[in-house]
This record gives sequence, structure tokens and C-alpha cells, in this order.
Amino acid sequence: MTRLAIDGGEPLRKESFPSRTPFGEEEERLAVAALRSQELYTGGFVERFEREFTTLYGAKNAVSTTSGSAALHIAVGAINPNPGDEIITAPITDVGTITAIMLQSAIPVFADIDPATFNMDPADVERQITSRTRAILVVHLFGNACDITAMADIAERHGLPLIEDCSQSHAIKFNGRYLGTYGDLGCFSLQQSKSMTTGDGGMTITDNDAYDDRMRLFMNKAVVQTGTGHRDYKFLAPTYRMNELTAAVGIPQIEKLRHVVIRRQDIGTLLTSLIGDVPGLEPAAVTPGSEHGYWAYPMRTPGFDGLEFARALNGEGVRSTHAYIGRPIYMCSEALKSKNYFGNSSFPFTSEFTDRDFNYGEGTCPVAEEAMRRMVAIPLNENYSDDDVKDIAGAISKVAGGIGAPRAAPA
Ligand SMILES: Cc1ncc(COP(=O)(O)O)c(C=O)c1O
Repeated sequence: MTRLAIDGGEPLRKESFPSRTPFGEEEERLAVAALRSQELYTGGFVERFEREFTTLYGAKNAVSTTSGSAALHIAVGAINPNPGDEIITAPITDVGTITAIMLQSAIPVFADIDPATFNMDPADVERQITSRTRAILVVHLFGNACDITAMADIAERHGLPLIEDCSQSHAIKFNGRYLGTYGDLGCFSLQQSKSMTTGDGGMTITDNDAYDDRMRLFMNKAVVQTGTGHRDYKFLAPTYRMNELTAAVGIPQIEKLRHVVIRRQDIGTLLTSLIGDVPGLEPAAVTPGSEHGYWAYPMRTPGFDGLEFARALNGEGVRSTHAYIGRPIYMCSEALKSKNYFGNSSFPFTSEFTDRDFNYGEGTCPVAEEAMRRMVAIPLNENYSDDDVKDIAGAISKVAGGIGAPRAAPA
């Protein structure tokens, strides 16, 4: 048996994997044009980027912002929950998903997952609905759809707005239609690692004009100005305006996006075919009806402890993270764990706005917690060659063989 690198053996992969190269001549040309216009505040490029984004998704409206977190925050702001209202969301996600809820003094309620895909389980979403539920905020994790038709059905039956966090799932088709267009609001991060990027940025789409109006205000201090300069700030709102330079870089990304998604899909499919027979592992599952854009490759390691596996894989020169964020997001966020959003207070948890006792400790989403113990996520990008993928597969097989016979992970 070949000795693992973490045990002093040779790493399987010595050179680094290719980096992303998302920006080309067109981004450069438009960025220079934006600069030469001497107007970076807001204007033609932002408007064009939003317009072309709506065309891509067949949506009526698109509102640009400074980040995916901001895109989610304006979506929650559009819904305008009361303090203490509950928003049902995902236990495995970036903190930006739940920050959007918390900043509006609402309370995140976590629905457990389908352990095969790590996406929210519609049955548990429905179980979590109470009289205080104000919205459902689903996450399409890793480039793979959650069961969005079931989610849309639940939202409709209960009269709840549905927000989709598509930050990891740009231009992913589910039953032939793009994610982000099933819900009332679709949110996208344009951060550097995303399939479409401006370095940082965000976009929210909606067909609902009332949401669009409120989001446009929400992302710009909620300011309304008359011709004579009198200002009205309609409600409490942050400043999340995208600038011209960012939008100029975003415009050419729209045309490239599907190529990026399709190449990542091929890479993920190849990796699945190469590791399908490795004992103790399960390749990434794809939700029926969905494409999988493999923002990262989420492998299940039922025969191994995920943390141990990820360490050994990193030793072999293949970058990987244990369970993507390590633990469910409610166990990562100090603000949630201590129920302390603002100052020293526990508002809205102890207030007239809720009579429920929330606890975000272990056991909140047992299926997610167990699934994450045995999950390794491998970041990929569209520049990887098939040989790079073969090296990843080789390292996975080596680690699976070298760690020892598949065994139960410690509880
Ligand atoms: C699922 C998900 N939601 C929200 C975000 C937040 O996006 P940003 O980092 O652009 O604020 C990210 C990005 O990391 C994400 O992956």
C-alpha cells in the first residue's frame, strides 16, 4: 500500500491546480470604458448589467448590489418581516444567507436536509412552519437544486414568499428552467469564486414589481429625492449600490456563464465516474431534474470520518474542506449561538415579538449534523483538465485505501 503524504509518503499531486481566469479582454475593455467615462457612481453600465441579467433569466426585474449577502438582505427587506418573524432556511450555507434574516431582526429556523444532496428537505420545511413563519429562504447548495418544485408548492399552499439563494447555482436548469425563477425572489453572489463574478457583487431578480420597488429603495438608503433636492428616507435601509466599474466587469460574464457551468458539469461528472467504485465513499448526488454546476464537489464519506479524510486529501495536494463549513451554520455563528444580534441584548429572542424558546445547539438539524461528519467538499474550477480530475480521483482512491479499511466514523 502506498504511504499517505500525511504519514510521510510522497503527495500524489505536487503541482498546484489551475486557477480561475474569469476576466478577459472584454472585461478589460469595458472596465477601461467605465473609467474613461469619469462616472463610476451609477449609470449606463449598471443599468445594462441589470437589463442583460433579466434577459438571461427571463425575469422582469433585476436589482444589483455589492455582494451576495446584500442581494439576500434586500430580498428579505422587500418582504419586510416584523421583528421576531421566522424565516425557514438551510443549515448548510454561507453566513450571508442567515445574516440577511438577522439584520432585519427576524429569526432563522433551520430545516433539516436530504442527506444525499445536503439540500433542504421539503418535508422538514413544511414541519417547521408556524403562525410566525414569514418566508422560506432556500439554498441551492454546491450548484445542485434543492427540490424547488416541492418548495414552491409548500410556499404557495401556506401563502409564504419563497426566496432562492442561487449564489452557488448560477444558470443551473431544473426541469429546463433556471433556478432563481421558481421563487418570488432569486439571489446571486458575484464573489470571485462564483460561476459568474465581478470580484464582489450581487444581484436579485423578481417578477414582482412591488418587491422590485422596495428593493430599489432598500439598496440605496430608501432615499426619494425631489427635483428641488428635498429628501425623504422612506424607511431604515443600508447603501448597497453597485458601481459602474463592477457592472462593466459583469456584463461580459453573462455570455461566458453557461460555458463555465457546462465545463464544471463535465468535470464533476467525470470525477463521479472515476470514484464510483471506491469503497467507503459516495460520489456527489444530483437532484432528479437538476443540472449540477459543481461549484464544489460534495462527496459523502460514509466509511470514513470526513475531517480525517479531508486532512489526508489536502496532504496529497488536493485542496478539500471538511463538510464545506465544518459544522452547520447555526453552530458557526456566535450571534446565533448566543442569541445576541445587537449590543448586549437578546432581541428579538426575548421580546414581545416571540414566545418561542429558540436553541441553536447540537441536535437542531440532526440529519445535517450527521451527514456533515461524513462529507468532504472539493473546490473545482472550469480550468481543470481531465488529467487534473484524474489526479483528484487518484488522490481520493489513495486516501481511501491508505486511511485503512472503511470504518464507521466516530460519533
Ligand atoms: C450560498 C451562499 N449564500 C450567500 C453567500 C454570500 O455571498 P457574498 O460572499 O457575495 O456576500 C455565499 C457566498 O459565499 C454563498 O455561497
